[in-house]
Amino acid sequence: VRLIVRGGIIVTEAGQVTADILCVDGRIAALLDPAERVKVDEVVAAHGRLVFPGFIDPHVHSRDPGAPDKEDFAHSSLAALCGGVTCVLEMPNATPAVADAETFRDRRDYLSARAWVDFGLWGLSLGTANIDKLEELFSAGAVAVKLFWGYALHKETKSLVYNIGDMPSEELLMPPSNGEVLATFAEVARLGGLIGVHCEDKSVLDVATADLGRPISSYNDFLRARPAVAEASAIALAASLSYATKCRFHVMHVASAAGAAVVRIARDNGVPISAETCPHYLTLADTDYDAIGSLMKVYPPIRSGEDQAALWARIADGTITSVGSDHGPHTLKEKRSGLASAPAGVAGVETFVPLLIDAMCRGKLSPQQLAALASTNTARMYGLHPRKGTIRPGADADLVIVEPERNHTIRADKLHSVSPVTPFDGRTLTGIPVASILRGVVVMEDGQPMGSRRGEFLAANHSLDAPQALKTQGGSADRRDRMTEGAASLA
Ligand code: DOR
Ligand code: ZN
Repeated sequence: VRLIVRGGIIVTEAGQVTADILCVDGRIAALLDPAERVKVDEVVAAHGRLVFPGFIDPHVHSRDPGAPDKEDFAHSSLAALCGGVTCVLEMPNATPAVADAETFRDRRDYLSARAWVDFGLWGLSLGTANIDKLEELFSAGAVAVKLFWGYALHKETKSLVYNIGDMPSEELLMPPSNGEVLATFAEVARLGGLIGVHCEDKSVLDVATADLGRPISSYNDFLRARPAVAEASAIALAASLSYATKCRFHVMHVASAAGAAVVRIARDNGVPISAETCPHYLTLADTDYDAIGSLMKVYPPIRSGEDQAALWARIADGTITSVGSDHGPHTLKEKRSGLASAPAGVAGVETFVPLLIDAMCRGKLSPQQLAALASTNTARMYGLHPRKGTIRPGADADLVIVEPERNHTIRADKLHSVSPVTPFDGRTLTGIPVASILRGVVVMEDGQPMGSRRGEFLAANHSLDAPQALKTQGGSADRRDRMTEGAASLA
């Protein structure tokens, strides 16, 4: 099957060029001069629009199986599709948690039967409890392993415990010790894998909560009970473990100026560290609490306007190299139950791309940076490049067509999740993903699915891509590499 995308402005991390994209049997076959005429079965007109490599959301908690009232994968992957994402990386903390290869394969098959977009799958690290399973998880194709450090998990289900005080301590699985995490990092390094860590130090949170001396009753209390130093100190400790072991370490959802500064310092000193942030940290601040309420409760918390500005600056200076939604859906009833007792988490897989496009249209990001942050760097880091994350011959024909001029308003009741709850309800955005192509087939137009479900599982290949992934984090020499690659892809 031959499809051509005509007249669009192709955006890669390296630059922009107007060219036609010929897709044959699901892959990109050639970039053609728009004057050239070729025989095709289908034409997609993209004149005056931007064409991005398919966007990847690397941080999605679909609760499936586990909590069907909050979300399931059929809905989250449809929401992803409608919001301009063509690939999601699913987190391992559904029930049962993906802590060994057998569960990994079961989950892979289960999600494959429900996927509207392509997907990769995370494994779960439980410290030494499953350190002997990390090899089989990476062999099975895990994009990375996740360590919920500082989080208590439920002993049986390995699900996250959002409010520790609400649960009897004998049901809790406490976070692994520093020594266990060191051993885990050493093992991930040996395997050439990647570990993604939720960085908040539980002991710092415990002291801060005790210092507060009363139940959380305002957003300011909430921030005092979860100070930025909990994040920064956990990153610093993990960075030293990463330095010692050479383990590739990705900081999930950096939310504070202090945390991002530690990432920068570590990287400048040779730690193989990288960092993610999320649209909610880039677009909301504590001052929004009065209007939004506990719907914006998330761990780590959304902080001040200065923290938000620092995160933008850390994107600009290359410290933060990937953005994920941390899609963490809960029911409206749960989210409305008050700041102290509401579960933490913000659903965001469907608003992920629109919020980033809006930021681009406001001049916070260049189109090239958007391509890098939400596609190319992400694909590289998680071992999916060059199949995903790039527009060049041989890559999967995953493309998202963006119309930068059109305004639209986010409406919770129009979202496709099981529980369509968002802190962004009513927000008007500029620019919109108008169509998506997944492996050469138009699968989304104007926010609606086209045709039938056709998402597939993707196994990560870290052995091929590990050196690449590190390269994207560097300075000017690496930039030259990327430019060359970009130029080659447009040749
Ligand atoms: O607030 C959060 N909720 N933070 C996380 O890291 C996980 C997420 C969830 O799964 O709901
Ligand atoms: Zn997390």
